[in-house]
Amino acid sequence: MTSTLPAGSPEAPPAASRPPVPATRPTPAADRAGAARAYELDRAHVFHSWSAQAALQPLVVMGGHGSWVWDGDGTPLLDFSSQLVYTNLGLGHPRVVAAIQEQAALLATVAPQHANLARSEAARLIVERAQAIGGDPAPGEGRNYTHVFFTNGGADAIENAVRMARLHTGRRKVLARYRSYHGNTTTAINLTGDPRRWPNDYGAEGIVHFFGPFLYRSAFHATTEEEECARALAHLEQTIQLEGPSTIAAIVLESIPGTAGIMIPPPGYLAGVRELCDRYDILWIADEVMSGFGRAGRWFAGELAGPGVRPDLIAFAKGVNSGYVPLGGVVVSSRIYDTFATRPFPGGLTYSGHPLACAAAVATITAMAEEGIVENADRLGREVFGPELAAIAERSPIVGEVRGAGAFWALELVRDKESRTPLVPYNAAGEANAPMARLATECRRRGLLPFVNGSRTHVVPALNITDEEARYGMALLAEALDEVAR
Ligand SMILES: Cc1ncc(COP(=O)(O)O)c(C=O)c1O
Repeated sequence: MTSTLPAGSPEAPPAASRPPVPATRPTPAADRAGAARAYELDRAHVFHSWSAQAALQPLVVMGGHGSWVWDGDGTPLLDFSSQLVYTNLGLGHPRVVAAIQEQAALLATVAPQHANLARSEAARLIVERAQAIGGDPAPGEGRNYTHVFFTNGGADAIENAVRMARLHTGRRKVLARYRSYHGNTTTAINLTGDPRRWPNDYGAEGIVHFFGPFLYRSAFHATTEEEECARALAHLEQTIQLEGPSTIAAIVLESIPGTAGIMIPPPGYLAGVRELCDRYDILWIADEVMSGFGRAGRWFAGELAGPGVRPDLIAFAKGVNSGYVPLGGVVVSSRIYDTFATRPFPGGLTYSGHPLACAAAVATITAMAEEGIVENADRLGREVFGPELAAIAERSPIVGEVRGAGAFWALELVRDKESRTPLVPYNAAGEANAPMARLATECRRRGLLPFVNGSRTHVVPALNITDEEARYGMALLAEALDEVAR
């Protein structure tokens, strides 16, 4: 799944021709008037995430279908980002759209204390998928997944999973890795191991960070995956011992860290985390917000860890319903459920298990199962993205490593393949970030909507992107990389 490729620059492939774009886009004239108004009102009234507001020039997206969106001029862009890595079924999937419409007509909303068919079915389908993680649970270990606590998105899923873990264990501290993202609420942003935490961190949340495995930039001077795995686990155990095992409620880990770089854990790492959690009576919270629902070619990326490796709580969101209506949640294992069987869980949300979001989840999961979407993501990874991105890396002087699985790939960009110096410094902004800004511009200019973070670009399209679209997008990306390399 990982290839570190040597320098070298054989001939680039010929420019690709654009595959057919869905015909459902509105006329450019209608687009242009609406787009001008959208932009003007956005600049006047919308306060955007993570940004200094005044300099923003947001792309106006007027519509979308499948793997395509179109801008205010009616120009189509192939979406290699799945927006924020969540439109796993692409845009406008007819079954999900119809399910939302039907649910809106039947019962647009309902308070969380009532039972509702859309919510109940969604919970059943999600629990059923989670059961595939780690195979059959060992009898008596309490890791049978039974219930779902629904939230509005990923951050509040993490927030509530941590609350459950703290109450279940009676401990406060939580461990999380550097190079991670867990969301933007207080606990979730403090767990996060990337620069977005820095301005939000008052050191008050009882959170301790450790290094996870990442061979390309090993914190342990390792040279093989086996070494990296063993040393990362030894480091984690030492962190637990020095922090005091009796003070630690949980370890929170993305099953595959996403925004931080799509680092697939080496074989044995998650099994080792499970063992450490068992040895010290600590809970394991798997963050599957980005890696879940087919992204890595499995329903949950945790399945890649093999038999017997089951987290205690699983946070999900994004792909659960392709993001058509906000939804997240926590899959709860039986022993955590038992803690709250007679003692109230002190948490709730007005929109917990919102029927529009849950109807979208039922339709998404059903369509994914019937259309073989997870299997398709796995195939795309093995037959299309893996080989073609490796070829791009071999040709390009600035692609140091390609890694990923399914429709979940990262290209690590460097100034020099030998030294592995990142293309831009960590947390670069302004002039220092110019090469990455240029990459985004060059992609957009060619009709590709990329995902760019730090010194990386991620290839994270819809899981039902066609092979032709995938190859076309990679050809555009290769051209943009060549431009930046020059
Ligand atoms: C792994 C992971 N966890 C949590 C979150 C937070 O999810 P949300 O933005 O829905 O709150 C994200 C969002 O990107 C994520 O990638």
